[in-house]
Amino acid sequence: MKLPDRVTICEVGTRDGFQIEPDFIPTELKVEIVTLLAEAGMPRIEVTSFVHPKVVPQLRDAEEVMAKIRRRPGTRYAALVPNDKGAVRAVDAGVDAIHTVVSASESHNLANVNMTIAESIQKLTAVMRVAERARVPVGCGISTSFGCPFEGDVPLPHLESVVRRLVDIGARAVGLADTTGMANPRQVGRVFDVLIGRFPGVEWTLHTHDTRAMAIPNILAAMECGVTHFDSSVGGLGGCPFAPGASGNVCSEDLVHCLDAMGVETGIDLDKLIAASRRVQAIVERTLPGQIVKAGKATRRYPLPDGVAARLPGRMTSDSQNAAGSRLGTGHPAIAPASRPPLQ
Ligand code: COA
Ligand code: ZN
Repeated sequence: MKLPDRVTICEVGTRDGFQIEPDFIPTELKVEIVTLLAEAGMPRIEVTSFVHPKVVPQLRDAEEVMAKIRRRPGTRYAALVPNDKGAVRAVDAGVDAIHTVVSASESHNLANVNMTIAESIQKLTAVMRVAERARVPVGCGISTSFGCPFEGDVPLPHLESVVRRLVDIGARAVGLADTTGMANPRQVGRVFDVLIGRFPGVEWTLHTHDTRAMAIPNILAAMECGVTHFDSSVGGLGGCPFAPGASGNVCSEDLVHCLDAMGVETGIDLDKLIAASRRVQAIVERTLPGQIVKAGKATRRYPLPDGVAARLPGRMTSDSQNAAGSRLGTGHPAIAPASRPPLQ
């Protein structure tokens, strides 16, 4: 498997996730989560969005959140905007980067931002001007890149034409979003192979939703094509309010766990990220889709069942197990035989 040494993750839980929470998350709690994520070493955070407050009331406190977060050097704090009005608000609020949104399918674009793709591109041209004046970098996201919940397949030439129009208005960073988890790894590989060849110099991001359990396989396929930027959300929060069937993004801690295990660096402290995820679960008062929070890391070890230690070839004692545990660098020394069964 051809993997990069290092990838950059952008945490989107406080935007993609909090935007569809049934209850408004109080501003202080949003700020707390952004802080925990930054302290875990997240290099990029999409903090919120500057959209119409009536359309996405859960994020109506975008200005306040931006004003209250304590900036950690090394973290880039971004926000999503659909148009120049959002871009002006975002720049005034002091974002480090602007992420824009347009869909690859007309029907999703109309449902999401009440514009045709052509109208969106016009608005995004104005966004680029606002960002350029403020010297704020822009990442242009394309929703429904791999399939639309209304239209089905999105032909590659069609996706390519949206990328072309974005590049023509000055996009240097483009994110392909699998808004409702329709992509499969072979498709992701084919799409990136073609587009990377056609648009040299573009920084590509893959934004996945794990609706059909294909998010991490899709990320692996993109990495094999040389993509090194990925969006993910803590706990696996997430979903688009204007895309039926949408569910959570790929879970940040599950993705970091997978990358750590393969030796792909992210610069993120997995234990701190898991702690942040537990805090998010407490705030939203439900179990989130992430697996690592439930299962523990792959280095987790359980007590030996009764009678097993005595019968092990070589008669491993608890001391020798502990030594084996630390030799493997697991940080979880094996524990002496116990009478209780392993946890389920
Ligand atoms: N922030 C706040 N207000 C905005 C705004 C923004 N980014 N963009 C437009 N408005 C205001 C306008 O000023 C205008 O206000 P007025 O009636 O007081 O004059 C009003 O909204 C209507 O403007 P218009 O350009 O016609 O917008 P619209 O009603 O067609 O809505 C969007 C377009 C893009 C603003 C709206 O669909 C939206 O916010 N969508 C976001 C969807 C989203 O977040 N999806 C999930 C993430 S992918
Ligand atoms: Zn999304």
